[in-house]
Amino acid sequence: MPVGGSMTSRPLLTIVLAAGKGTRMKSAIPKVLHCVGGLSLLGHVLTAIRGLGEGRTAVVIGPEMDGVRAEVEKIAPKAEVFVQEPQLGTAHAVLAARRVIEQHEGDVLVVFGDTPFITPSTLNGLLASLDASTPLAVLGFHAADPNGYGRLIMDGPGQVSAIREQEDATEAEREINFCNSGVMAFRGEQALLLLEAIGSHNAKGEYYLTDAVAIARSMGYRVAAHTCAEEEVMGVNSRNQLAQAEAVFQRRFRERVMAEGATLIAPETVWFSYDTVIGRDVVIEPNVFFGPKVVVEDEVIIHANCHIEGARLRRGAEVGPFARLRPGADIGPRAKIGNFVEVKNVTVEEGAKANHLSYLGDGRVGAGANIGAGTIFCNYDGFFKHRTEVGAGAFIGSNTALVAPVTIGPGAFIGSGSVITKDVPADALALERNEQTLREGWAAKFRTVMQRRKTEKRS
Ligand code: UD1
Ligand code: MG
Repeated sequence: MPVGGSMTSRPLLTIVLAAGKGTRMKSAIPKVLHCVGGLSLLGHVLTAIRGLGEGRTAVVIGPEMDGVRAEVEKIAPKAEVFVQEPQLGTAHAVLAARRVIEQHEGDVLVVFGDTPFITPSTLNGLLASLDASTPLAVLGFHAADPNGYGRLIMDGPGQVSAIREQEDATEAEREINFCNSGVMAFRGEQALLLLEAIGSHNAKGEYYLTDAVAIARSMGYRVAAHTCAEEEVMGVNSRNQLAQAEAVFQRRFRERVMAEGATLIAPETVWFSYDTVIGRDVVIEPNVFFGPKVVVEDEVIIHANCHIEGARLRRGAEVGPFARLRPGADIGPRAKIGNFVEVKNVTVEEGAKANHLSYLGDGRVGAGANIGAGTIFCNYDGFFKHRTEVGAGAFIGSNTALVAPVTIGPGAFIGSGSVITKDVPADALALERNEQTLREGWAAKFRTVMQRRKTEKRS
């Protein structure tokens, strides 16, 4: 065992099994592409593997899983993809990557693509329990409900003699709650020897990876068990388990965000993405949803009921209640985005304000500018998107339509209700509406006439 026990110094090959169809998801999408915290299950696993440092990664997928292949290319571009066809069990799946196992000198780690919370430190702990006389180590956990899992049959402290799948277990074995997580580590020297000895004489007629344990023992080797918390190896096989995994992810993320110095008034109502960045002294009120790629800098206030994705909120900005920030929204320091304001692909510079009922799409709002209630950036002509530039300190009156492409100069003033189609120079007034007509006493006369007609009609 390496000194210190937490890092293996041998080269590492990690094989991720992701060929299963995930029948119980009842989905057109392969199971490992379903998301937790906005990232696919496979994405979570590949990210954990990246945390192991240098090493080779192989992912075993099923036929016609181009989406899974694309996800691997996106998250782990160096990983090699192998197709398993047909799918004859977990040992058969590992052998789909036989070519890399043959080439590899070092340790081989097998993980499942549907266990999103596995951590690098647990994987390192498992690898550290391998040595020359222990060519195999199994990651186990104590299950609250062991049903459906393979059970670890122990014959000494930390010593596994076999793994029994649920279907093949005796009544007594089913009482065991120490279960197989599915994660296993092999010494490369013995990996193929063990894998090739696995047969399919069991209830399902599949090649079970778990049989490697009894085979190693029959060859006189030791097999180690390493234990982790159940939550870390929870697998996703159904929509119900997907929701349970989401709940675990969110609880942990909220705890982390608070530990790092943000205030969540009702943490259980705030939803984060795997990559949300939240600074210090940020206050997040109830019912806020973060989609992917959001950065919230220090001292930002997010009022209740906001939906935010792909946005940056700079120091001291204030948004909501009921704001929608879409990709490319860059809200400057101390800028304010108020209720029922939607911002997409717009830079709102320092101290600018859009406090009520507006759509700001494709453009820039200069520092200190004021966008009145009901202002719309008319950015789309049905074919192309165009930009609206609002200069620093400009004042856009309420209910203004800015028809892009259009530029409002710094300090310009737009009268409310205007439809602005031409550029407005700095410090000018632009007003586009009919002059108001006024008739003294008209309303009083109108009321008298109409009231009389109504009385005549009734009698
Ligand atoms: C497996 C283990 C069981 C363990 C449980 C933990 C075996 C035989 N059983 O059972 O001991 O307690 O996981 O969740 O290993 N896969 C393929 N190709 C195949 C079959 C499966 O790639 O031919 C992949 C699946 O995509 C999945 C993983 O292997 O990622 C596990 O397969 P699954 O069918 O879910 O195994 P379980 O029955 O859950
Ligand atoms: Mg499973």
